[in-house]
Amino acid sequence: MRFEKKDILDIKSLDTGEITMILDTAQGMKEISERPVKKVPTLRGKTIILFFQEPSTRTKLSFEIAAKRLSADTVSIAKSSSSIVKGETLIDTAKNLEAMNPDVIVMRHSSSGAAHVISKRVNCSIINAGDGIHAHPSQSLLDMMSIREKKGSLEGLNISIVGDISHSRVARSDIIGFSKMGANVTICAPQTMIPMGIEALGCRVAKNMDACVEGADVIMMLRIQRERQGNILFPSEREYASLYGLNPARVKLAQKDVIVMHPGPMNRGVEIASEVADSDCSMILDQVTNGVALRMALFYIVAGGSRHADSD
Ligand code: CP
Repeated sequence: MRFEKKDILDIKSLDTGEITMILDTAQGMKEISERPVKKVPTLRGKTIILFFQEPSTRTKLSFEIAAKRLSADTVSIAKSSSSIVKGETLIDTAKNLEAMNPDVIVMRHSSSGAAHVISKRVNCSIINAGDGIHAHPSQSLLDMMSIREKKGSLEGLNISIVGDISHSRVARSDIIGFSKMGANVTICAPQTMIPMGIEALGCRVAKNMDACVEGADVIMMLRIQRERQGNILFPSEREYASLYGLNPARVKLAQKDVIVMHPGPMNRGVEIASEVADSDCSMILDQVTNGVALRMALFYIVAGGSRHADSD
């Protein structure tokens, strides 16, 4: 199968065949990170720019490690040290980056749609590493990879997503991706954190947290995105933890072999208790490990692999 797209911008624009191809490629990439010499020459001579205008630990580092494991050259540019602080526009900045002939620009931006706008202005590939509240496709794909690894497939799984749905690009990408791959997605949050019409993305809204996690095969917890909230949307952290936090008693309501996930960064004691985050059912660090393999797959697909030649 050939991957024809120039960019990876969101999950909505990927069909199930493309998602499966990315997940299969990522699974094959995983073994490279387990070798004594964690490097292959696949993307030698390619240049990848990491253009992050919001803080990141997992996404930025795993994209950088992924590029280096494939022997690509990487350079980073942050908002605070770029000429954006001198008034240069995002589009002018991107056109200037393109003038240096990169093969891929990985970008994170606080505005929804920023990656889409830039993708239309430059010829190199754009990978969206998170844009506002809109999309975080590589996170959703690594979440799907992690679920598939444990459960074999997403088809027919009951997946609960709990937290600040309104401000979470991970929630939007996961709801779309999980439902596209055949899972039944149920969400739960305070009313102030559920956007109108969210069901149209492919989920149902549970009446409370216990109902949401009952019988779940997978529970995905999300943090409260205070940096995107204009007003205070809940009375106190203590009340939030009591009504919407995942604790051992709530885990018991789910299937015996439930897996607990979190895209990070997590706020222990708020949306998730430490006893759960550090328990055997937690896949939180497995998600991070899979993030490297998944991002290697994305680089391979857009810059070195099946866009340029048949892979089968
Ligand atoms: N999951 C995620 O996007 O984490 P970072 O913000 O640390 O990249």
